[in-house]
Amino acid sequence: MPMPSPALSAVELARTDLHASLADPSLEAVNFLNEIIDRYPSAISFAPGAPHPGFFDTLDLDGYIDRYTAYLADQQHLTRAQVRRRLFQYGPSRGLIGELIAEALRIDTGIDVSARSIVVTVGCQEAMLLALRALSVGPGDMLAVVTPCYMGIVGAARLLGVPLVSIGEGEAGIDLAQLVQTCKEVRKAGRRVKAVYVAPDFANPSGSFMDRPSRTALLALAAQEDFLILEDSTYGFTAHDDHALPPLKKLDCHRRVVYLGTFSKVCLPGTRVGFVVADQPVHETPPRDRLLADEIAALKTMVTVNTSPICQAVIGGMLLANGGSLAALAKEKATFYRRNLEHLLNALDRRIGRHGGIDWNAPSGGFFVRVRLPAVVNDELVELSARRFGVLWMPMQHFYPEPVESRELRLSCSYLSPEQIEAGVERLAAFVNHVRYR
Ligand SMILES: Cc1ncc(COP(=O)(O)O)c(C=O)c1O
Repeated sequence: MPMPSPALSAVELARTDLHASLADPSLEAVNFLNEIIDRYPSAISFAPGAPHPGFFDTLDLDGYIDRYTAYLADQQHLTRAQVRRRLFQYGPSRGLIGELIAEALRIDTGIDVSARSIVVTVGCQEAMLLALRALSVGPGDMLAVVTPCYMGIVGAARLLGVPLVSIGEGEAGIDLAQLVQTCKEVRKAGRRVKAVYVAPDFANPSGSFMDRPSRTALLALAAQEDFLILEDSTYGFTAHDDHALPPLKKLDCHRRVVYLGTFSKVCLPGTRVGFVVADQPVHETPPRDRLLADEIAALKTMVTVNTSPICQAVIGGMLLANGGSLAALAKEKATFYRRNLEHLLNALDRRIGRHGGIDWNAPSGGFFVRVRLPAVVNDELVELSARRFGVLWMPMQHFYPEPVESRELRLSCSYLSPEQIEAGVERLAAFVNHVRYR
């Protein structure tokens, strides 16, 4: 009997047979940038928002795990066999270090929540995905995002088919008047804004910071228009003590805020540990004593089962080694990133200057600066910048849920040393001159 030819029998999948989120331009954008970074390895890159690699040199992972296991033995009175089981076996989907996270939140921010309202997730990314999954009943439930906006939340919404609506940043991090108007219009169309995603402390990519009146007004609006707030706290640790404002979750008296956290920037992204605080009670008949966190933990059993206990032990040990505080752990890093940011802003002033359609914002924290150019900024321009001028950055157009023509780019200061930032801005100045006079 003749064998079927492998060439003929090999299956070919049409793109249209795959989920629409796979055709989302943001996935292409990430691939494109990674490919450029590979193609021009000597380019100085202001593209990644990753932590500075120098902080990993002194990490003692074994030491942190030992610290956590000693805590399990001393404070929770587990035997050696129980400790080993806890680290090596499957674990509870809500995670192991909820108590330690609750304690860190209390010490660092005054947010007072029980461990029961926390789910430890595989990075903040999983926290976003699970929270969105739990909250979105159907296509009528929309997520409002402040644009430009972090790609991860847009991607999670796309993956789940959650419709998005864009809100402008305004002067203070969110245009509240536009948000009210949008809620009304969406309601008129038979839908509702179910949740609003915000990063009030130095957002990615814009670096914007929400002032105190806007924080209070957003919370009031959440009650008035009946939506939840997804608060992303990723860059809050970089705020100087003199400028720091309380997180929305701390100001929230009505449990309107679902708080999203990560250990990626302060500890290490390689552990992929993040968390969600979801202390909203869930009513049902017959009544059961459930919180949104319980529902999110239930969803997690079908996504990643549980966050790696070994990685949680590393993070738990890091917290314990710093008196239970993430802020204490972050102090030195926050100073480093603020210095880098100052250096970047200073170098932009000295080497480029704000004129002829060139401008940038000057955040006092976070990793990012947005720069405006007198030209449309797209992938072709970033390729030219890498090839001819040896400097890389992110076109802002990728941070919008819908296609836009943007004249902005994002610079990140986290991954580079002050010397690299100086050299990078020198190259950027040559590139900007080229754009200005071509
Ligand atoms: C605003 C924001 N939220 C969340 C994350 C992702 O965090 P994680 O590494 O915990 O998934 C990032 C990472 O860059 C970010 O910029």
